Amino acid sequence: QRVSLWGGRFAGGPSEALAALSLSTHFDWRLASQDIAGSKAHARVLHTANLLSDDELEIMLDGLDRLAVDVESGGFRPEVADEDVHTALERGLIERAGPEVGGKLRAGRSRNDQIATLVRMYLREEAKVIGALVLDVADALIAQAEAHPGAAMPGRTHLQHAQPVLLAHHLLAHVWPLLRDVDRYIDWDVRAARSPYGSGALAGSSLGLDPEAVAAELGFDRAVENSIDGTASRDVVAEFAFVSAMLGIDLSRFSEEIIIWNTKEFGFVRLDDAYSTGSSIMPQKKNPDIAELARGKAGRLIGDLTGLLATLKGLPLAYNRDLQEDKEPVFDQVDTLTVLLPAFAGMVSTMTFNTERMAELAPQGFSLATDIAEWLVRQGVPFRVAHEVAGACVKVCEDRGIELWDLSDADLLAISEHLTPGVREVLTVEGSLGSRNAVGGTAPERVAEQLEEAKVQVAEY
Ligand code: ARG
Repeated sequence: QRVSLWGGRFAGGPSEALAALSLSTHFDWRLASQDIAGSKAHARVLHTANLLSDDELEIMLDGLDRLAVDVESGGFRPEVADEDVHTALERGLIERAGPEVGGKLRAGRSRNDQIATLVRMYLREEAKVIGALVLDVADALIAQAEAHPGAAMPGRTHLQHAQPVLLAHHLLAHVWPLLRDVDRYIDWDVRAARSPYGSGALAGSSLGLDPEAVAAELGFDRAVENSIDGTASRDVVAEFAFVSAMLGIDLSRFSEEIIIWNTKEFGFVRLDDAYSTGSSIMPQKKNPDIAELARGKAGRLIGDLTGLLATLKGLPLAYNRDLQEDKEPVFDQVDTLTVLLPAFAGMVSTMTFNTERMAELAPQGFSLATDIAEWLVRQGVPFRVAHEVAGACVKVCEDRGIELWDLSDADLLAISEHLTPGVREVLTVEGSLGSRNAVGGTAPERVAEQLEEAKVQVAEY
């Protein structure tokens, strides 16, 4: 015989098929400690409202504490007959505190306000854990940038050689989005820090319970303003899912580069053995599986978000059972990110760069052509003309199969009277890098400042 929380008006128990469909303990059991914390806070407001005597409160809190210990140790587990985490824990409380006292806890609350609160509690904790793991990745990138202050690489647009940049500048370009992801979790927490507890099923409680007291005890800034909104909304959960998906995408974009850099053709990076995998058939293989898994898991993180958004679309107020589907997507995101991020940080901190090869390729593909044009502009030549002249230099070089710096003084003057030998100062990678010295640019002194700024920001979290 199933012991449900709602049997009174039913002639018989639920069918096996319904029970199997309805069951959620296989995923919501991870909210057990939050559920017990909520129950303790709820017991206290019942007591304040004179609905529990001093003795009853003591028995109740003691029962909940012992239940928490047994949940923690694995001594208490949900049974197949328990519909959800709430049902299982009520059974556990009644076993410990007796039906007389244990049966009083449920007054004035509903699983609808409970679950909405517990999910927020859980995600607020996990957002902090994930944020710290993201900072580990940022730290690894910053350390790599710091270890390679002068290394140049071909900067790309459209995956084509564009302009030389510092490797440190490129690595830091992956740090800022990650720091914004951490900021997003922090900003999100402001909205998540409101407790739906006390909203009841949808309309609030008639028993004189104080939602603000429960909110404070559970670490929220305040109670929700509206009980219908408190039980029906899931935008806070969806926003968490977006931030997590965006984080996955940011890791994936860097992963794609690592995968390319790690090819024979590029040869820019070597991954440490401890963070690479082999092939079961090809003995020579060393594969960038962490980067590939990060790229692959970005798809899954996006799927978690879109699945949740699709669930929410079209739901009328207030609670609908569809909302039970909000948990698995974000639980999956939490599980995915907490296993992915440490591996990713390890891969980044142990990878080695072939800076010689990167430097050699940095000026190739006529990536200094813009420097010629901008040098001409500094000599007073209109950019329209300067662009033409630099383009003509590229054409001559392409026809002759040489690089820009191979042009002789005579070649340069033949292309344009403005191309005096002074142009050679920007026909080197160092000259090009050094000239991009405005805030945010790739000049070494600007990148050094940027690095300090990133370190300060990381230290401030
Ligand atoms: N398990 C449900 C959920 O995750 C909470 C229970 C609400 N059930 C109900 N029949 N009102 O959303």
